[in-house]
Amino acid sequence: MKIVVTGGLGFIGSHTVVELQNEGFEVVAIDNLSNSSESVLDGIFNITGKKPIFEKMDLRDKKAVQDFFNKHNDVSGVIHFAASKAVGESVENPLLYYENNINSLVYLLQELKELPNANFIFSSSCTVYGQAENMPITENAPVQQAMSPYGNTKQIGEEIITDVAKVTAINSILLRYFNPIGAHPSNEIGELPLGVPQNLVPFITQTAVGLREKLSVFGNDYPTPDGTAVRDYIHVVDLAKAHVVAMQRLLNKKNLNKVETFNLGTGTGSSVLEVIKAFEKVSEKKLNYQIVSRREGDITEAYANTDKANNILGWKAQSTLEECLASAWKWEQKIRS
Ligand code: UD1
Repeated sequence: MKIVVTGGLGFIGSHTVVELQNEGFEVVAIDNLSNSSESVLDGIFNITGKKPIFEKMDLRDKKAVQDFFNKHNDVSGVIHFAASKAVGESVENPLLYYENNINSLVYLLQELKELPNANFIFSSSCTVYGQAENMPITENAPVQQAMSPYGNTKQIGEEIITDVAKVTAINSILLRYFNPIGAHPSNEIGELPLGVPQNLVPFITQTAVGLREKLSVFGNDYPTPDGTAVRDYIHVVDLAKAHVVAMQRLLNKKNLNKVETFNLGTGTGSSVLEVIKAFEKVSEKKLNYQIVSRREGDITEAYANTDKANNILGWKAQSTLEECLASAWKWEQKIRS
């Protein structure tokens, strides 16, 4: 069966291509290479023994999207990762985010609605919950006012899919990721952040490898046990596997609603200082860090209630925080060597 993965050469996309190919799916990866490299195809080949079909294209090009589906008229499902994801950049340039993240989604759905039975998986984020009142966060927690245009594109994306599902044959699963980190255990693929990383783990590994002088810890006055903010860090391979299970659920028509939503996290919260300690342990290196003031827009804590994904998808994250960080560290050393 042919599955299309948009953003297929990106961080989560490439790991998902690997897991789909491991399960015997034929994969077509779409990517505009704006935040990825064609060399990722070699990494995927080295792990799975085959390359996906690759189409370099920009999903903002409506005609290109139409041509794509005319050419690949035997598609069984689409997993949609392609999107811009830098929170700060989205505040600076909101139209880029609305154009890229919303137009591409609309053009894809316009083609999928023509298919007799289309299956669609959307890459959403726990950012839709804002600062949730209760931990761990269940899928029933209310969606709150987005704190950035990036976050808003995820909320609007979920709403568009829900509206479209009511009047088309498209079946969808919305996957709300907590904090994806790590790299493939083979060390063939991993995260390739452009410029100065905004996310914690790539900043840590770049500091440890000597590319950054020190990590700034954003705030130690949060109402958490050690004062630093708490997140749910999940291994990217665990996350990728959840996409395969979700796609199989749609293909086997096991979904109970036209649109289903699942949190993807581990269920465990870790503070920034706990992440630093775990990193120091697995890398056997002291990390240069400094406490600075809070980062605007950050929340105190977010970790997932994973019951729904565990019980309904039959999926559970397997990797520990230390395993995640060890793989991220191994990958960082490889790409800088
Ligand atoms: C961020 C985005 C979120 C997005 C996700 C994608 C914000 C406010 N949120 O999540 O919308 O879905 O990335 O990957 O940007 N930290 C430091 N020093 C650093 C970097 C981070 O102390 O140099 C802290 C942060 O304050 C936070 C934690 O580490 O408490 C995790 O930060 P990060 O990796 O950026 O993820 P989120 O902010 O949770």
